[in-house]
Amino acid sequence: MFVSVSFSLVIYGVLTREVDRFSHMQGLRIERRMLIEQGLRPRNQPMSFKIVDLDLVREVKQRTIIMLGLINVIILVVSGILGYLLAGKTLQPIKEMVDEQNRFISDASHELRTPLTSLKTAMEVSLRDKNLSLNEAKKTIIESIGEADNLQSLSDKLLQLAQYQKINKDLVSLAIIANEAVNKVRPLAQKKKIIINNKVDNGEIKGDKQGLIELLVIFLDNAVKYSPEKSKVFLSSKKTDRSISVSIKDQGIGIEKKDLPHIFDRFYRADSARSKTNTGGYGLGLSIAKKIIDIHQGSVKIDSAPKKGTTFAISFPVLS
Ligand SMILES: Nc1ncnc2c1ncn2[C@@H]1O[C@H](COP(=O)(O)OP(=O)(O)O)[C@@H](O)[C@H]1O
Ligand SMILES: [Mg+2]
Repeated sequence: MFVSVSFSLVIYGVLTREVDRFSHMQGLRIERRMLIEQGLRPRNQPMSFKIVDLDLVREVKQRTIIMLGLINVIILVVSGILGYLLAGKTLQPIKEMVDEQNRFISDASHELRTPLTSLKTAMEVSLRDKNLSLNEAKKTIIESIGEADNLQSLSDKLLQLAQYQKINKDLVSLAIIANEAVNKVRPLAQKKKIIINNKVDNGEIKGDKQGLIELLVIFLDNAVKYSPEKSKVFLSSKKTDRSISVSIKDQGIGIEKKDLPHIFDRFYRADSARSKTNTGGYGLGLSIAKKIIDIHQGSVKIDSAPKKGTTFAISFPVLS
């Protein structure tokens, strides 16, 4: 608006000066012609009066002011509307981020509340019990420690979820990552006598080593958790010109069609996961996994049938 108004003032100044000059020149010319017609030599000095229609000059100036004013109003309205629309558009991602953050905070505090309440209730009940034996007290304490462990792992997971925003990108060997991930999940697998068949070939990905190990641990942990005893988990890799992919296949309970679109959501757990297997979990694993995949510009595909098993295929672009 400032630029437009200044510009208008300049235009107005130049235009009025031109109109004045024009009327002055016209006066001179008419005077010369009159003198020549009367057989007199025109004087070199300009005449002291102007022959102009002053009303016309005033009208031109007035019309100029009105036109410029109108143009400025139009500019004000158009730029106002455009500015409003563009600001809305630029602020949209920020708004989405803030909404997402608020949702995250409310989800997280809701999830933290439930175990905290049960922990508190258990302790209060024991405290009120006048005939509490030492053994019973110990049992309550052991249960409380278990609950506190769960809370700790939940808060660790929440931290992880917030943490994976920016990462280092080193060239890391897929085989090493797979090995380390399998080693981390092995104790859990051995408890259920599940064999993890690791057939990952050598290949390199540009990415964050710890993040990628964590990624495979999340999928392997699920594969073991949601599989019956003595089943098998297959880990393999495939390389093409453009991508390198890792798949994790299990013979477990599978995922129902209706749950598939949601399993990467925060705190989402399919009913079958809650009821059939008595495994702890907060439904955060896959949302962390999705985040790690996203920052590596990768993608993930699921192939699952209830009671048959699940295959997750993660694919990363090969960066040259
Ligand atoms: N390999 C799998 N087999 C069957 N269901 C799975 C598998 N992996 C994930 N799921 C389903 O997806 C849900 C979300 O997984 P995740 O985010 O790791 O949470 P959590 O394991 O803590 O429940 C699980 O609760 C489960 O219902
Ligand atoms: Mg999990």
